Amino acid sequence: MVSRMQPDTYYLRSFGCQMNDHDSERIAGLLERLGWVRRDLPEEAGLLVYNTCSIREKADSRLAGHLGTAARLKRADPSRRLVVAGCLAQSRREELLSDFPFIDVLVGPQSLHELPRLLEQRRDTDRPVGAFEETTGVFSAALPRARPSGPTAWVQITAGCSNFCSYCIVPYVRGPEASRSTVEIVEEVAHLVEAGVKEVTFLGQNVNAYGKEPGFAGAEGFADLLALACEVPGLERIRFMTSHPKDMSEDLIDLLAASNQLCEHVHLPVQSGSDDILSAMRRGYTREGYLSLVRRLREAVPEVALTTDLIVGFPGETEADFEETLSLVQECAFDGAFTFIYSPRRQTEAARLAGRLDPEVARARMARLVDLVQRIGRQRNEALVGTVVEVLVEKVSRQAAGEVMGRTRTHKPVNFPSSPEPGALVRVELTEATSTSLRGREVPAGASVRS
Ligand code: 5AD
Ligand code: SF4
Repeated sequence: MVSRMQPDTYYLRSFGCQMNDHDSERIAGLLERLGWVRRDLPEEAGLLVYNTCSIREKADSRLAGHLGTAARLKRADPSRRLVVAGCLAQSRREELLSDFPFIDVLVGPQSLHELPRLLEQRRDTDRPVGAFEETTGVFSAALPRARPSGPTAWVQITAGCSNFCSYCIVPYVRGPEASRSTVEIVEEVAHLVEAGVKEVTFLGQNVNAYGKEPGFAGAEGFADLLALACEVPGLERIRFMTSHPKDMSEDLIDLLAASNQLCEHVHLPVQSGSDDILSAMRRGYTREGYLSLVRRLREAVPEVALTTDLIVGFPGETEADFEETLSLVQECAFDGAFTFIYSPRRQTEAARLAGRLDPEVARARMARLVDLVQRIGRQRNEALVGTVVEVLVEKVSRQAAGEVMGRTRTHKPVNFPSSPEPGALVRVELTEATSTSLRGREVPAGASVRS
């Protein structure tokens, strides 16, 4: 007989992308509204929640380790409950249940609002329970939020993705793209600002497709949504991710150039520099199309920082294809890049392609790519040394006493000795650079400020 479950303590671990981090804040919000109290260690909690990611293989293997710990903790106290939420819960539900039969609740990313009901239901049965909608009926953003206090916040603007890039599992797991109501988004931004938030990041798999689905009755498009958000009084900064190169509009580029609130940073995943590979990936743009977009962005917003995602070892990738990626990285002079070795995802088109690479070759290419990305990142950051930039203080440093960490408008982390409260906008002269971060010293008001 399963004991009646009272709200008690929970542990929550999030894997994967920013959207998952956002969803995890909502899972926490739902549980806390019901009276659950968060604990930092799984050993201390009666309810263990893992919000999973299915985008690459690595995420699966990491989860297995955590579920091993969960199994041990459940044996120690059989009244503990285990929830697996998110993308793997949706895409691998049968395997998860057969490999880890001690899971109590499985809940897909479109069904997070069902979690309280599922926990109730599990009280009255000895079997695992689950919910898995294919499409987005309720945005996770509609759920209560438990946000770490701080001056920055995520705001979900779309869910799902309708692009079907050939390697990507997201459209199968998170369903077709759905845009959230413009009014709700702007209201959420206003509430966040009232609560002390200075910077919001609009989140979606492809923010540039906001409002494009048939029958949508909100803002005309993404640039219009941004323009409305810019009018929220007290909002200092707006960021957005992820942009898809094929959908980036002239309106958005113009707004980036004109608006004070829009930050000069665009995360613009290119994936590959080879036309053959881009076409096999079904990305919808060519190398030259991407390069010309980058030229237009730099022309309109000279101080813009560009970051990207790159995949090495896509099926059929030759040495010549890979060198095209290297030369594109050089030409675009990215400020940073997330680099991934291709991993086949079941259901996707690319998983059925011939020409799988020898893992050694893929790893060697990855090492060359990472080396180049770091070299360019360092050069870009070193070029900023000596300039004065605006920094939004995010937190007091945990590593160094008397230091704070903040970000430039271009999203670069800056550490500097100071004591302003998180949320302060300060001017910092940059003094040192690494490939991914900067150091500086605070300067008094008066000097001219660059991004
Ligand atoms: N293998 C490797 N990387 C992938 N990504 C998405 N799917 C795969 C895959 N199957 C990467 C892409 C994407 C980022 C979020 O994850 O670069 O932009
Ligand atoms: Fe995946 Fe492509 Fe959609 Fe990004 S745009 S989530 S890579 S299908």
